[in-house]
Order: sequence, then C-alpha cells, then structure tokens
Amino acid sequence: MTTLIINIKELIQVRETPISKVSGAEMAILPTIKNAYLVIKDNLIAGFGAMENIPEIKADSTIDATGKMILPSWCDSHTHIVYAGNREQEFVDRINGLSYEEIANRGGGILNSAKKLNETSEDEIYNQSKARLEEVIRLGTGAVEIKSGYGLTVDGELKMLKVIKKLAENYPVTIKATFLGAHAFPLEFKENKKGYIDEIIQKMLPEIAKNKLADYVDVFCETGYFSVEETEQIMEAGIQNGLTPKIHVNQFNSIGGIQASVKYKALSVDHLEIMNPEDIEALKNTETMPVALPSCSYFLSIPYTPAREMIKAGLPLALATDYNPGSTPSGNMNFVVATACIKMKMTPEEAINAATINGAYAMGISDSHGSITVGKKANFILTKPITSYNQLPYAFGTNLIESVFVEGTIFE
Ligand code: NIG
Ligand code: FE
Repeated sequence: MTTLIINIKELIQVRETPISKVSGAEMAILPTIKNAYLVIKDNLIAGFGAMENIPEIKADSTIDATGKMILPSWCDSHTHIVYAGNREQEFVDRINGLSYEEIANRGGGILNSAKKLNETSEDEIYNQSKARLEEVIRLGTGAVEIKSGYGLTVDGELKMLKVIKKLAENYPVTIKATFLGAHAFPLEFKENKKGYIDEIIQKMLPEIAKNKLADYVDVFCETGYFSVEETEQIMEAGIQNGLTPKIHVNQFNSIGGIQASVKYKALSVDHLEIMNPEDIEALKNTETMPVALPSCSYFLSIPYTPAREMIKAGLPLALATDYNPGSTPSGNMNFVVATACIKMKMTPEEAINAATINGAYAMGISDSHGSITVGKKANFILTKPITSYNQLPYAFGTNLIESVFVEGTIFE
C-alpha cells in the first residue's frame, strides 16, 4: 500500500541523515522542505523531496496537502496516563491556598491516586486510560512513555503495567513502559522505608522482569520521597533486572539526583524545575537527556526548567507532558511546545526539536521516530492550512491538526 502526499506547504523536521538527538546551538536548526511531497509505503516513510523533483510514483492513493504542513508526530517521553479517577478536589484545595506538598502530607497526592487505583478493577482502569490515550493520539502524539507508580503494592504495580501492555497491544502508537514503584512510600511503610524498598527490589522488580512488563525504571528522587541513596539502590536493582533508569529529579529541590542518574547512565532526567550550575555541569558530555515538563510548572505554579541556560551550556533538551491526575492533567503536546516558547523562551525550532527527535531519544526510539527520515515510522501530523509553523505555538489554544497518521494510516 503506497500513499503519496503532494503540494505540502512545508515538510518539517526533515533529516536525510538519521540523527539521534540535537544539542545546544543545533537545537535552533529545524530543517524543512517547502512545497514538498511525501511517500508512505505501508507503515513507513519511503521517500520525500521537493515537488519540482518528484519522480513518477505509482500510488494507491494521493492526498493533496495544498496550504497544509506535515511534521513528525510528537514523542511524549514522560506520562502517567494510566490512573483511576481524578484529583479535582486537590486542584480546588490548591486554589484555596494549600500547596502540593501540604496536600501530599495530608495523605492526598500520589497516595490518594494509589488508593483509587487499588480499589479499581484492571478492566475499569484500562477503559479510563484508553480514553486518555485516544485523546493524546488525536492531539498528535505518535509515541508515548507510560509509567506505573500509582499501585505502590505488588498487585497494584503489576496491574498498572498489565494495562500499559494491553494498551500497547491494542493501539498502533509506540508505547514504552516504565516501572515507577518508587513514586511514594505507602502509609504502611511510612516508618519502614527499607521495608518498601525491599518490596520493590525483591518482589516487584523480579516479577516485572520475568514477565517483560517494563522497559525502564523510574524513581521520584525528591525531599520527602526517595533520597539519592535510595534512588541509587533502586536504579542498580532496575539495571540488574534489565531496566534502564529514567528518573524524576529536581522538581522541588536540587539534592544530587542528577549526578546519581548520570552515574547510572540514565536515559533521561525529568522535571528539572530547580537547577543549580552544578546540575547543568553534571549533564555536560553525557548520554542522559534532560526533559522539561512545562505544563506541570504551569499547573502547579512552580518554576520552569531554565531552558536557555541549559541550551547555552550545549545541552540537549526534550519536552514532554507529564500527563497525570495530580500535577498535570493534560496530555496536549502542542500546549507543551507553546508553553516552552512562551514561558521558557525556547524558539519554535528548539521546541519542535525538543518535542520530536529529542523526545524520541528520551524514550529510546530515535532510530524509528522523531523525524521525517526514510525508513522511520510513518507517524506524522497533517496540519490545517497554516501560515507558518510558528502558528503552532502562537495559536496556543487552537487545535491546528487536520489529521494524524499512525503507521501510515489516519487515526480516526
Ligand atoms: O511527575 N512528581 C512526581 N510525580 C508526578 C506527579 C504525581 C502526582 O501528583 O500524582 C509528576 O509530577
Ligand atoms: Fe512525572
């Protein structure tokens, strides 16, 4: 099955030579072809170029994209979209003056979601989560990482990972699963932290590895959650069970989580709202991708990741949603890109690079996703007629997507 798209006003994020990520000053460069064509064969990108050079192509169907642009689907490398219920009441409590921390200390927050998760059946969690997955696919996400972390019991964590597996089996988008048993200490282990870490290391991780239920291991490394030492212990155990670390660090405090993650060759370090110069230094010349989550900063009114300083230091940066019931009830990657431009002063080129190729890197799939490259998955966004790609972040509240292609087929 061959599909040909012609008269594309601008084909965005074209990488003839495959790259795995862009860093520092390279982030400002977003290669495009104006007045372009794109060939899709089955589920892959098979060719592209300028209309003036279009060869003769026998296509099963041809789409005329006059006035419209194409860009690779968003790669959302950090989400928690498998959860039960919601936390609307905490949202109101925060408006009325409580902080995220105060809510968590009262037994709300992650523990509130864990209670709901453990009380809800696997089928019901699947149904609630698939609605969110379909929503984000329609918003242009073509690959998504999903974390566990609202179970906090052996059964609850396995239940979440099974739901993630089922979503991956039933939907055409690429899904990577991350085990986040170390998201918070359950109440019954409040005075016995070692006991919960033993549960993670001795019970959860071996079971997850045996059933191949996760690709990555995550820890919420933060004051009041998991210390740097505990994070290192869990990263080490994760690695022994075949899982690469991707770690929540520096959301509220800089406590050394970045240095520890780099030491364990984490694929990514995520959040980074609070960054000191040593944290930036520690990321230089490493393979660890820093990931910013600006809609979390927006929703919680906490600082934004200092993108300009990090890019100036030569670092790469990826953008993701953090879609979850507590700190970011939104999976809209276009809003993330817009917020990165508006609040973090990233240029549209930098933000689009961060949300495509660097997002793909942060979930270990940049050889198959994140750019318009022959042989990569035909996962891309066809926009409505737009004046320039700057309109995507500029018109931050408007959905400018006409259709979303996943594996070469329009997702309805
Ligand atoms: O990435 N910070 C830790 N975890 C999530 C929020 C969890 C929650 O509040 O449910 C985050 O923001
Ligand atoms: Fe998160």
